[in-house]
Amino acid sequence: MRVFSGIRPTGDLHIGNYLGAIKQWIELQNENECVFCIVDLHALVTPWDPKTLQKNILETAVAYLGAGLDPEKCILFIQSQVKEHSELNWLLNNICPMGELLRMTQYKEKSKQYKNNINMGLLDYPVLMSADILLYQTNAVPVGEDQKQHVELTRTIAKKFNGKFGQTFVEPKAMIAKSGARIMSLQEPKKKMSKTGNPKGCIGLFDEPNDIKKKVMSAVTDTGKTIKYSPKTKPGISNLLTIYSLFSEIPIKELEKEFANKGYGAFKKALTELLILKLEPFRKKRKELLKREVYTAEILNQGAKKAQAIAASTMQKVKKKMGLPD
Ligand code: AMP
Ligand code: TRP
Repeated sequence: MRVFSGIRPTGDLHIGNYLGAIKQWIELQNENECVFCIVDLHALVTPWDPKTLQKNILETAVAYLGAGLDPEKCILFIQSQVKEHSELNWLLNNICPMGELLRMTQYKEKSKQYKNNINMGLLDYPVLMSADILLYQTNAVPVGEDQKQHVELTRTIAKKFNGKFGQTFVEPKAMIAKSGARIMSLQEPKKKMSKTGNPKGCIGLFDEPNDIKKKVMSAVTDTGKTIKYSPKTKPGISNLLTIYSLFSEIPIKELEKEFANKGYGAFKKALTELLILKLEPFRKKRKELLKREVYTAEILNQGAKKAQAIAASTMQKVKKKMGLPD
């Protein structure tokens, strides 16, 4: 199966990103042909800083490689280095009904958020995303719930193109992570863990042991003393149990038994130790890669070459079908 997903060039990852997305990608790369793309062109639709974009791209690559993407097992590359993405974007623009784009939830939200900067790119974002996916004859697209609508649109565009010009594109399916992988803030356990929320509630994938300790030990817990999974009545401890279970691969039921008479303090201490242990290899790998910029750049260059070979072959078919010269 061919798997494709896009990575926004933001660089800092937290354990929510890891448990909700990256962990699945790392498993997928063992069995499938995975293509992961750092979507720098998508980063241009909202305000950005040209001085730091390249640094962010490189840091994002380092973060994902540190977290376990293996360049021997998957293709990792930068979107703007494979020109076919922009080329197919333009061709698909002429297939995609504008009404579909105006309906997109992300467009509606972002155009409210960036009232003074509603550019064409913001509206066209999902068509570029469709081009990303369709260029690689993708079967499955692992994304968060919020991107499902864009993958559905990609299917619509693929169907429309195939109907009009003959079978050309594989119709891709979104692959949404199982529920339960929604990690909440350690400070506000009813809100999703996120980079933009309370920093004390968010554990970075590359956090130092001391920071992990501080954040876990000061995590909000609930009234009562029992360590029991009940997201409605005990959201704080339930979230910590979820994190513990996912990192240790011990079922929550067993954890409840193990910590039955031990109290929150002991549980948090055990979770701290577990997280320090499990995150150590990520931190080490990332530190190593940060010292080897040329090596990382080379991975991305090789990735772009491999991606381009696939993309060029699709483009050749597409142009022919549309009646364009080679
Ligand atoms: P973001 O950069 O916030 O869009 O997140 C990238 C991916 O990480 C999303 O597609 C989600 O699947 C996943 N993710 C982000 N935050 C969380 C969270 N708190 N819990 C679980 N998964 C998350
Ligand atoms: N739009 C996605 C996001 O905001 C990123 C993305 C761009 C993507 N192109 C993609 C995801 C192709 C999956 C497939 O998270």
